Amino acid sequence: MTKTIDPCTLVLFGASGNLSRVKLMPGLFRLDAAGRLPEKMAILSVGRSEVSNEDWQKDIKSMLDAKFKKGYDQNVFNRFIARNHYHANPPSDPNAFNRLKATLGNENTFPQNLAYFLSVRPVDFAPVVSQLASVGLLNEEKYWRRVVIEKPFGTDLPSAQELQASITKHLKESQIYRIDHYLGKSALQNIMLQRFANTILEPIWNKDYIDHVQITNTELLGVGERTQFYDSTGALRDMIQSHILQTLALTAMEQPKDLSPDAIRAEKIKVLEAIRPIPVNEIEKHAFRAQYAAGTINGEKVPGYLEELGNPDSVVETYAALKLFIDNSRWEGVPFYIRTAKRLHEADTRISVRFKKSPLQLGKDGTEQNWLMLGIQPRECIKMEIQSKIPGLDIATRTIQMDAANRHEEDETIDAYEALLLNLMEGDNSLYLHINEVEAQWRLVDPVVKTWAEDRKPIHQYPSGSCDPKESKIIFEKDDQFWRSSIELGGDKSQ
Ligand SMILES: NC(=O)c1ccc[n+]([C@@H]2O[C@H](COP(=O)([O-])OP(=O)(O)OC[C@H]3O[C@@H](n4cnc5c(N)ncnc54)[C@H](OP(=O)(O)O)[C@@H]3O)[C@@H](O)[C@H]2O)c1
Repeated sequence: MTKTIDPCTLVLFGASGNLSRVKLMPGLFRLDAAGRLPEKMAILSVGRSEVSNEDWQKDIKSMLDAKFKKGYDQNVFNRFIARNHYHANPPSDPNAFNRLKATLGNENTFPQNLAYFLSVRPVDFAPVVSQLASVGLLNEEKYWRRVVIEKPFGTDLPSAQELQASITKHLKESQIYRIDHYLGKSALQNIMLQRFANTILEPIWNKDYIDHVQITNTELLGVGERTQFYDSTGALRDMIQSHILQTLALTAMEQPKDLSPDAIRAEKIKVLEAIRPIPVNEIEKHAFRAQYAAGTINGEKVPGYLEELGNPDSVVETYAALKLFIDNSRWEGVPFYIRTAKRLHEADTRISVRFKKSPLQLGKDGTEQNWLMLGIQPRECIKMEIQSKIPGLDIATRTIQMDAANRHEEDETIDAYEALLLNLMEGDNSLYLHINEVEAQWRLVDPVVKTWAEDRKPIHQYPSGSCDPKESKIIFEKDDQFWRSSIELGGDKSQ
């Protein structure tokens, strides 16, 4: 469904930064190439340095050249570049935001519906909003005004609430677009569609049929050059607080009454708020952390996290796993095991649902169960494992896998930021986070983050390139539960 977009101006703070170079500018260019930007749409990049429009346009060309190595359409490029302007906002200039207002006041160049994308440091989110408000640039009397706040929205519940209090002095909830770019991924949106646009899944998507659910995000990569950032964040805050809990929400939510942004977010909020808090005195039974040690990835030796960091005392986790329960009638007693890890044996993001045992067990070890897996990346797919008779004289079964790719060769590949930028201009915030989601997510992880930060004992180490550390099994509810190590057939065996 193509929605109409009002003529608008995207005001991009931090446009010279990494995110803008790699995702935002190329994303906007692709939207232009696909004919999805309104004819009257302008992009005003705002930065601290004095840069001429001409030099800025050359810089944009270098961003596009770096991204689209095979080249691009010159006509689209000319159209795109004509939309782009630059405004210097040096921090030393007390009049900077008045000058910005004067620039934006040129209605022939800049349509007056304004979307501000704050691709700046998190400490700058609140000051930029306050300065925009001080010169009346958030005023919605005649035109809409929207503000995108990049990730992270706070570093814990109190700081998220503080940021929220600062920005809601000037903005209504409907004007605030909080990013979790995972939600822009088509494969993530597909979770909801596969659940609710088919009748066959919903009847079995509950405690009567499901033994447990695993939500997995593993990477081959280590922390690379982001050691300082990573050591102040950790896997739990970097991945679980946001992306993985959002994936869980889409997996476990009730059907929204319709596909409107409000209805979808209302159901996500409900399920996130229904997750039982992890008891502080039982954190070790519900949460497990570890760090990668030296090992081998793709045949190459790689160093361990502490070595890369150069600090042998860090207890920051590169592997984090949680067991969560959802206190509602659909999910009563069903554990959700969620985990994220760097430098594991494979890169994989998926949802694995293990069904309860059938009364008829004819397999070799009598433990065969049905799995249904939704692959998010690298493969977007749906797989189901069922027991099937081995042809022959005997009555015996084996597991077979039905494997359907969600993506066809001719399908277009859309970057998450393209979807998010388009939705921003459309005024559709269903792929952005509501403050209640952000707060529920911090409320869940904060006690674990705090306990782990205070416990300075060296933490478990796993060799880079290995499967989950054995010690992580402590969080399983039952002896026959284990990490599904791969989406492929045979990945259902305990390691
Ligand atoms: N959604 C995600 O998963 C994700 C991924 C990456 C980043 N992010 C978030 O996106 C935002 C931008 O990330 P980025 O990697 O593009 O950041 P970046 O490259 O470090 O900086 C972005 C811009 O901020 C300005 N800036 C940098 N240092 C500054 C300083 N000391 N004082 C004032 N301004 C400064 C610079 O703009 P000017 O000099 O032109 O003013 C710079 O271009 C951050 O909030 C980050 O957390 C989110």
